[in-house]
Amino acid sequence: MPARHQANDAPAQAAREAVAGLTPAVVISGGSRGLGLALAKVFAARGSRVVIIARDQIALTAAAHKIEVATGVKATAIVCDVTSTSAFATIAEQLQANRLYLDVLVNNAGIGLAGPFSSHDDHDIDRLIAINIASVTRLTRRALPDLIARRRGGIINIGSLGAYVPGAHQAAYYASKAYVLSLTEALATECSGTSVKIAVAVPGPINTTFHAEMGAEQSLYRTLIPQMSADRVARSIYWQFTLGKRVILPGIVTPCLALALKYLPHPITVPLVAWLLKKPMA
Ligand SMILES: NC(=O)c1ccc[n+]([C@@H]2O[C@H](COP(=O)([O-])OP(=O)(O)OC[C@H]3O[C@@H](n4cnc5c(N)ncnc54)[C@H](OP(=O)(O)O)[C@@H]3O)[C@@H](O)[C@H]2O)c1
Repeated sequence: MPARHQANDAPAQAAREAVAGLTPAVVISGGSRGLGLALAKVFAARGSRVVIIARDQIALTAAAHKIEVATGVKATAIVCDVTSTSAFATIAEQLQANRLYLDVLVNNAGIGLAGPFSSHDDHDIDRLIAINIASVTRLTRRALPDLIARRRGGIINIGSLGAYVPGAHQAAYYASKAYVLSLTEALATECSGTSVKIAVAVPGPINTTFHAEMGAEQSLYRTLIPQMSADRVARSIYWQFTLGKRVILPGIVTPCLALALKYLPHPITVPLVAWLLKKPMA
């Protein structure tokens, strides 16, 4: 056994030497507010160098400043639209310019879309697929080979409790998170034995501006399902990821809801979820 480990370690050693002199970074998409910003603060508070990504430069710079004030750790801001096919190259270039390398990737940027599916614009559905599915897939695919070569680091993809059940009135959003859950669990299995941690976080509702952004603020789930703070969800994701958990269910209520959604029959759960998600008539 020890001989086999040594043989396997030589290429990993070489891959690590290729980034010698650079600082490992936790790269978080959608880090300018909400869960992404909370995750950046948690990682920074534990001494990690964090890099946050979003499109709005002013909000991103303010968020980096908040992280530095709260934790005393430098945060780097990269203005980038993750849906761009050149996003990974842009991120890699900026990391190199800051003497950093990607050690942990957090695919957190995501958007929702509420209302009847037939009423959505093609453009809004394409945008949701581009952010929640295509960019997560592309960035994960591009980041993985180096992580595997170095035999360290990891990827956290942010899914949702909605991954476990079809969500009428947020149909495309729920379906996108089912994809994220499925993809990430499969990759975690493919990567077992590589020392690279692959996890999917499956939070229930979080108190962020996400719901208002998609016009779902008045839906019943906002009042009937307990909402967690972004800080609490972020702490839970951090600890469970550190411990090597593959499917991260933050808090106490979320694991119970996940169990119910997984094991109760769809004829019960799908109409119930539809009722919770439906927007009230104007
Ligand atoms: N809130 C919830 O109840 C909840 C529950 C379960 C799962 N989640 C998931 O958790 C994640 C974060 O949600 P949140 O509530 O924190 O959302 P949020 O408050 O709306 O923040 C979204 C972040 O993503 C960034 N972003 C959006 N589009 C982007 C793009 N194309 N490129 C780069 N960055 C982009 C936004 O900045 P810019 O707009 O400046 O780019 C912002 O920083 C999402 O994946 C969401 O699906 C949320």
